[in-house]
Amino acid sequence: MFRTSYTLAPMTTMSVASPTAESVDGPSVQWKHRCLLGLQELSAEELRTLLKTAAGFAEVSGRSVKKVPALRGKVVANLFFEDSTRTRLSFTLAAQRLSADVIDLTSSGSSVSKGESTVDTARNVEAMGVDALVVRHKSSGAPGLVAAGVKCSVINAGDGKHEHPTQGLLDIYTLAEANGRLETFDLTGLRVAIVGDVVSSRVARSNIAGLTKLGAKVVCIGPGTLAPKSMETLGCTVDDDLEAVLPTVDAVNMLRIQFERHSEGAAKAGGGEAVRASPAFPSTREYSRGYALTAERARLLKPGAIIMHPGPMNRGIEIADEVADGPKSVILRQVTNGLAVRMAALYLCVSGSEAR
Ligand code: CP
Repeated sequence: MFRTSYTLAPMTTMSVASPTAESVDGPSVQWKHRCLLGLQELSAEELRTLLKTAAGFAEVSGRSVKKVPALRGKVVANLFFEDSTRTRLSFTLAAQRLSADVIDLTSSGSSVSKGESTVDTARNVEAMGVDALVVRHKSSGAPGLVAAGVKCSVINAGDGKHEHPTQGLLDIYTLAEANGRLETFDLTGLRVAIVGDVVSSRVARSNIAGLTKLGAKVVCIGPGTLAPKSMETLGCTVDDDLEAVLPTVDAVNMLRIQFERHSEGAAKAGGGEAVRASPAFPSTREYSRGYALTAERARLLKPGAIIMHPGPMNRGIEIADEVADGPKSVILRQVTNGLAVRMAALYLCVSGSEAR
């Protein structure tokens, strides 16, 4: 992983107006960051500022005119060097709902394919007068390198195995919503299981950081190759018995097996094509036998427990159809909440930068 300690440039704390129903005027919140690169470097108070700002924006999506003028005149650029459906569309819509203009770049069809570096690409896009860069990259630390090379805001939209901060925030928001904690975002007393390919997962790392800072307990579950004991240094516990843990948790977050990040799978795939082979387990059938969330296993959950998945899902491998589409599933609610979370991230970073 690239060095990321410089990723949040030191800044003075600025007062940023919190969004209200009709305008961006309202009670001030404290936000001091130009960029959002990860949840590991944020305090509990900063996480709550992001989440409470998202709660303020959630109401906008229910209106007939789904827009506020908070970032009118600003430009947000999506720089996606790795595929995405949810995150990319969600950031685009979030920026549009804040009245910002949005431009899009992908590595295919851009000068990246001619060998231009990620940072040079970002600096050229910034030179067009862009206020925020939303960066997804297969390499851990790439958004941090971009942040160090530009002056505008940078939001990490998922980098390698490192972090996916807005996914972590939307997962936390959804857990808080299901448990009536949207006022406080105090998750004390809640226990969350993260199941599957934890070691490859930026979603897991952001969730573990955010959930534990807000008071929740996290247990990671998987075979030792995918959920090694060493993950406990992040502040969670690790277990390998899914059925024993399920009755004890308030939420279970099922992770996709990231075949493309497992060396053999990636080699077989030529770095791109979806494959269903990994050196981490003998076969997907054997993986599923131990760690898939089947209907039978889902019945072990407490009555109020929720089932989450960041997507994209490998249906039939880590999660059964009837569970993904069943009454405990909040998977599409996560996607809905992602919009408000991304509005908050863009608004705080860009408005805060302007105030500075
Ligand atoms: N959860 C998530 O990051 O999905 P995408 O890869 O579709 O953006």
